[in-house]
Amino acid sequence: MSDSTLSPAEARPVYAVESLVIDLYTPTLSVRAVDGASFHVAPGETLAVVGESGSGKTVMTLGPLGLLPEGVAVDLRGAARADGRDLLTMSAKDLSALRGGYFGVIFQDPISALNPMLKIGPQLARQAELYQGLSPEAARKEAVSLLARSGIPDPEDRFNRYPHELSGGMLQRAMIALALAARPRVLIADEPTTALDATVQAQILSLIRQIQKEDGIAVILITHDIGAVSVLADRVMVLYAGQVAEEGVAVDVLTDPIHPYTRGLLASVPDFRSETAVGTREIPGLPPNQASLEAGCRFVDRCERARPGCRTRRPELTAVRRGVAARRVACPVVLEEEGIAHG
Ligand SMILES: Nc1ncnc2c1ncn2[C@@H]1O[C@H](COP(=O)(O)OP(=O)(O)O)[C@@H](O)[C@H]1O
Ligand SMILES: [Mg+2]
Repeated sequence: MSDSTLSPAEARPVYAVESLVIDLYTPTLSVRAVDGASFHVAPGETLAVVGESGSGKTVMTLGPLGLLPEGVAVDLRGAARADGRDLLTMSAKDLSALRGGYFGVIFQDPISALNPMLKIGPQLARQAELYQGLSPEAARKEAVSLLARSGIPDPEDRFNRYPHELSGGMLQRAMIALALAARPRVLIADEPTTALDATVQAQILSLIRQIQKEDGIAVILITHDIGAVSVLADRVMVLYAGQVAEEGVAVDVLTDPIHPYTRGLLASVPDFRSETAVGTREIPGLPPNQASLEAGCRFVDRCERARPGCRTRRPELTAVRRGVAARRVACPVVLEEEGIAHG
């Protein structure tokens, strides 16, 4: 697809996606996993992407880089730009090179990203050689320093360890070191702490924040941990069943959510908004089967505010004038009923 739908003002972001639609096909199923999503992230900025499991967070963020679920056929439409280039029309070879050097990805499961047959240090050194153009000797030094920087004690010793010799928390740190080895401009952390215990989670998040401050890189944090969003994110985007429900500056969205789904999501976090949340409250119901969606709002069956029109009218993301900065919300019902200035 052409990149002409991105305006010049949006050229500054290091990664920008506009009106992205991603359809996935298996022999038995076709799914619109991402339905018209847009986002951008600038140097030094952290964008959090939240939403429950299966809402399309991973496919939306990593799909344009060519990282897609295995065994499915994919149709991507819209625009995606990084490094001044159009990712959706790029050759597989160019995309692979850009993915390795420009983007660093921290996966939920570090074992899937590290080669179990190779020692940790040489894997890092190889990345640094390949993407930073370092000599083997310089790359080895860089690998040790990356391990140290990722908070791994005794990095010289850890350099020579195999992945299975490290604990979960240490492996996740090694994964971060690997993601940084190419000196990326964009760091994508896909639920980086889900498998870790609470203390280690906090350490990993503070490590990501420190690295971002030092290097000024853009971070996309995919998470369902609202606590992580409040600590790390500048902006937040709430995804529901492949559609953007709400998007804005994190402090606005977290303290004054507007979309019924965002409100439900935050109310289900114990003690997060203690004035309004009475204990843990789950949003009743299940996400829709994305293979059999109607034209309207995808949240309709679980929404307390639903009206008959919601089933047939697609909720457009609408600019809302409330809070400290621009925000967009895809719920005409709440905007009208609560008299929220918009448009
Ligand atoms: N391997 C797969 N096969 C078929 N459908 C898939 C596969 N992976 C993801 N999907 C579809 O894409 C949707 C979005 O998935 P994903 O981006 O992984 O969600 P999230 O990261 O928010 O948990 C899922 O709800 C599912 O419908
Ligand atoms: Mg995911």
